[in-house]
Amino acid sequence: MRAIFILGIESSCDETAAAVVRSGEHVESNVVSSQYATHAPYGGVVPELASREHLRAIVPVVRSALAEAGLRYRQIDALAVTQGPGLAGALLVGVTYAKALAFSLEKPLIAVNHLEGHIHAVLLEERQKSNREMRFPVLALVVSGGHTHLYLAEERDGGWTYRNIGQTRDDAAGEAFDKVAKLLGLGYPGGPVIDRLAPLGNPQAVAFGPVHIRTKPGRRDSESWDFSYSGIKTAVLRYVDTHGMRGSLEVQRRALAEISRPSLEDYQRVCSGETLDLGASFQRAMVDDLVSKTLAAARGCDAATLFVTGGVAANRELRAGFEQQASREGLPVYFPSRALSTDNAAMIAAAAFPKFLASEFADPQFSAEASLRLG
Ligand code: KG4
Ligand code: ZN
Repeated sequence: MRAIFILGIESSCDETAAAVVRSGEHVESNVVSSQYATHAPYGGVVPELASREHLRAIVPVVRSALAEAGLRYRQIDALAVTQGPGLAGALLVGVTYAKALAFSLEKPLIAVNHLEGHIHAVLLEERQKSNREMRFPVLALVVSGGHTHLYLAEERDGGWTYRNIGQTRDDAAGEAFDKVAKLLGLGYPGGPVIDRLAPLGNPQAVAFGPVHIRTKPGRRDSESWDFSYSGIKTAVLRYVDTHGMRGSLEVQRRALAEISRPSLEDYQRVCSGETLDLGASFQRAMVDDLVSKTLAAARGCDAATLFVTGGVAANRELRAGFEQQASREGLPVYFPSRALSTDNAAMIAAAAFPKFLASEFADPQFSAEASLRLG
């Protein structure tokens, strides 16, 4: 079969991304323009600013993706764009641009669900390692700033089907990382900072037990395996208040805000031992909960393979926890590389490839859907 080049475009949250993937397998280019600097002063993503930044970045990002792939617009076989879920205004920038480009180039356009993209980030990289034979069903944990969702995924006749069997009832895991990091004055986005600092603290210093993460693991009757992370965020807040940490955390926050890219030594110098212990204990509780509930779901639905993907899947302790526990149960577990764990467009182009082969093209009238569901 001749090579098929798909140009993927992603703008669902705070990264403007474009990538060219050849035949669903070879990443020819993968350009991500992050808006961290824009949102950092607010400690979270500001939707209006996100749309404005996407508008600024989309044309140069797409141009760079094509230039890095050594291709001209006309050599692309199809375009793929994230339709949802995500921020409405942010999605609209990608969708409108992709529609206009597809129309002017007279190329087909494929609409991709962002969550399906995260799942295909794993498949893309496994194909690169010549691992083409996944055992089904695959249980995929998509764990990011907006989602903590479990899907049973299967491939039949080249097409993929997904069934949602669990999700967070309140905050997503990444959201909890971001909120706790903000509370501890560590900056935005919080996940990567807590991940980096965790080895400096004692994960046993503060006991966040199942009391703080309320839901019970797997209820077979309802076939639902849910998560809940607003409780642990409140528990961290309560700990901060009862231990009189507010004042010192504010001093810490100001000191870190003055350093443009704090190094590990900077954090170590500025942060108290109590802050580092609290961060490490929070991360340990999150990891234990994500791993134990996902494995309970895997047992409950006889999953043959486990995928862990999405921004939080970049977390080192989470990867180690899954690797250890899943291997104990004889369950193969796969993650994307850290670069493809967080938002990118290579995963969107990869997810579009089977749709391209099946001629599943988007209706010209389709629009961005902020709450698009998968499965
Ligand atoms: O998938 P993603 O880039 O965007 C969404 O679709 O939400 O995920 C971003 C989330 C943020 O909440 C960020 O704090 C979290 O992923 N994250 C991490 C790590 N890297 C990113 N959380 C924990 N540890 C990390 N290393
Ligand atoms: Zn994402």
